[in-house]
Amino acid sequence: MMEFTDRVSRVEPSATLAISQLAGELEAEGADVVDLSVGEPDFPTPENVVDAGKASMDAGDTGYTSSNGISELREAIAEKLQGDGLEYGPENVIVTPGAKQALYETFQTLVQEGDEVVLLDPAWVSYEAMAKLAGASLSRVDLSAHEFRLEPALDELAGTVSDETELLVVNSPSNPSGAVYTDEALEGVRDLAVEHDITVISDEIYERITYGEEPTPLATLEGMRERTVTINGFSKAYSMTGWRLGYLAAPEELIDEAGKLHSHSVSCATNFVQHAGCEALENTEESVEEMVEAFEDRRDLLVDLLAEHDIDVRAPEGAFYMMVPVEEDDQSWCEGAIQDAHVATVPGGAFGTPGYARISYANSEERIREAVDRLVTEGYL
Ligand SMILES: Cc1ncc(COP(=O)(O)O)c(C=O)c1O
Repeated sequence: MMEFTDRVSRVEPSATLAISQLAGELEAEGADVVDLSVGEPDFPTPENVVDAGKASMDAGDTGYTSSNGISELREAIAEKLQGDGLEYGPENVIVTPGAKQALYETFQTLVQEGDEVVLLDPAWVSYEAMAKLAGASLSRVDLSAHEFRLEPALDELAGTVSDETELLVVNSPSNPSGAVYTDEALEGVRDLAVEHDITVISDEIYERITYGEEPTPLATLEGMRERTVTINGFSKAYSMTGWRLGYLAAPEELIDEAGKLHSHSVSCATNFVQHAGCEALENTEESVEEMVEAFEDRRDLLVDLLAEHDIDVRAPEGAFYMMVPVEEDDQSWCEGAIQDAHVATVPGGAFGTPGYARISYANSEERIREAVDRLVTEGYL
């Protein structure tokens, strides 16, 4: 008999699994499912990035690279960060197969058994799992009562964190709420982090997908450079989810420690993918703008369609998700919505805030209209 570790037994299978399984079964039966549960842009990777990847493969970039990533890409990332006002060089960067791996390495490097990790709910599903895998005890601050804004919840956050807190996770723009935290909110986080000597993960993977309010990179605030791990990736801004490319940027002492984990687990990110990443950072301004404009139109459409049915949702300032209030038993609502209306969404409980469904508007306007029509017809909205 195999015996499994406590580590893995602490983690639940993803709550979204039931929904995707149901969607898959219905589709196999021939149903036309509108999938608003997806976490990836519905745009192709920009052509010049694909070409750069192919050219790199043809040029023979198919072996291992240096573990922390090719110097061209680490330099391009450092330059991007310097443009944001963060004085980092290539030595402050580890290139990873996806931002998820960057987060995983960060949790494993910073969190000991029993350490307190604080999440802002609703929080992206994998933070909880990664914290638990590292043995953390979790504390959570719920932003849902404040329309998902952070500054009205700063007092609550102040009451939650203490000198015992090891790590706080901030994700702006947020998955799943789409909220972009204001400078005032981030300064509040900074004050608490400095007061209690807390390290903060700033997951900025949606930073390019905003509709007016641009988030300030947390590490640029005074006192934060030495206590922030900035996470970013190529999946969302450049529609490169399947390429698996991301990074963490942090003070060198963290890079040294996390680098050990990195080299003994993944070795390095895929060689030619890293070369395509250089092209993505340097030559995709227009493609990103076009995609963000399309997302903004869809966000506005969805807010308007919901308002027509007396559901007032504050228009999120970023990412491509929206939390829509549904019934208390959000799991049943989502299961029913997919079963009866063939519309797939994710229950808010998966992110720590039951009573909502996360709707992704990374889908065409036509399909978004179709989804709302069906949900109304079947009595879900
Ligand atoms: C908030 C957030 N962070 C990190 C990731 C991981 O992205 P990837 O591993 O594709 O770079 C995701 C993907 O859904 C996300 O939503």
